[in-house]
Amino acid sequence: MAGGPGVDLLERARELDVADPLRAFRGRFSIPDPEVVYLDGNSLGRPPRAALEAIRRVGETWSEALIRGWAFEGWLEYPLRVGDLLARGVLGARDDEVAVADSTTVNLYRLASAALDARPDRPVVVVERSEFPTDRYVVEGLARERDLEIRWLDGDPIEGLATDQIVEAIRDDTALLILSAVNYRSAAIVDIAATTAAARDAGALVLWDLSHAGGSIPVDLAANGVDLAVGCTYKYLNGGPGAPAYLYVRRELQAELHPPIQGWFGQRDQFEMGPRFERRPGIGGWLVGTPGIIALAAAEAGVALTAEAGIAAIRAKGTSLTSYAIELLDAWLAPLGCSLGSPRDPARRGAHLSIRHPDARQLTSALIAQKVIPDFRAPDSIRIGLSPLTTSFEDVHRGLAALRSLLAA
Ligand SMILES: Cc1ncc(COP(=O)(O)O)c(C=O)c1O
Repeated sequence: MAGGPGVDLLERARELDVADPLRAFRGRFSIPDPEVVYLDGNSLGRPPRAALEAIRRVGETWSEALIRGWAFEGWLEYPLRVGDLLARGVLGARDDEVAVADSTTVNLYRLASAALDARPDRPVVVVERSEFPTDRYVVEGLARERDLEIRWLDGDPIEGLATDQIVEAIRDDTALLILSAVNYRSAAIVDIAATTAAARDAGALVLWDLSHAGGSIPVDLAANGVDLAVGCTYKYLNGGPGAPAYLYVRRELQAELHPPIQGWFGQRDQFEMGPRFERRPGIGGWLVGTPGIIALAAAEAGVALTAEAGIAAIRAKGTSLTSYAIELLDAWLAPLGCSLGSPRDPARRGAHLSIRHPDARQLTSALIAQKVIPDFRAPDSIRIGLSPLTTSFEDVHRGLAALRSLLAA
């Protein structure tokens, strides 16, 4: 890293910005108010200019092509086209393994149901107690529906789950594990390759929630032999508020698993309107109903931008941004009562950080009033998302300097 301890921290931020190979990407986003320091791109990414343009274009096509848009503009296959782009450009998956449709929660339920159907003699589902709420709620619902036992994992609140701890929980009674690759609060990373291999050896399946990983760290689904995954496109993939989620089913598993919702978009000859459901081959068989084309157009633009930047460069910048933020936290905020709620080892954390303080809720509100936008995660975390395509080192400096001033006052 440039400079030593004596070098002014703002100057360092500016040097890092000048040297940033991704700096030009910020100009590809709509940023109407340059005074806003946006540290929440891990909840809702900023809008790519191309996404806004794509929404406008879909509006025109809708006006002109009307119903013909479905056939002639390729709207019917749009969830699969964006899925392939995401698979190849971001997730390290193969063609025909990813679809972009519905919400993460709905996809999680669908894939978990299918996985449980495929392991009928195993009564246990494994999930972390500090997992994102929707994942836990879905697991609890499935357990009630199917009379399953939940085996709760208690990861370290900062360092997350150790691989040994996960492996120990996978036994011959275990059907399924649902795990986030990057924890939503601490950003702790779970070892995808080791966990997937251990589950396979034990005959269990793992369903990964990639919401905070997709577009921020490499997940290499094919190389890691991942069976099932879901994730959001509105976070690091900048797909827009409520953008459709993705679901991934490894090609070799697609025929073995059965979608619990048999909708007409998953039907082989959709417009034959046939008497019974015959699933179309490939990931298309997991589609259910009419996709939101306006939302897909925006999501496609976000995914394309991420793929263009490249996940290796994005990961490198994410690591530098969080390391720089930790340097400021140690120098400025720790003496004022804050502590780091994320792993110190950069290899163990994603692209956001938790800064813990007993008054985190009030501090977050006060920051937002000053146009510095992080978010609050109960009970005591100010969560800062350092989305690599849109966050500068100077943003980190400005944001944490504002927090320091609030604490000092
Ligand atoms: C880890 C994780 N999973 C799932 C979700 C929820 O997804 P959705 O609201 O699209 O169903 C979120 C939302 O923030 C999340 O952080």
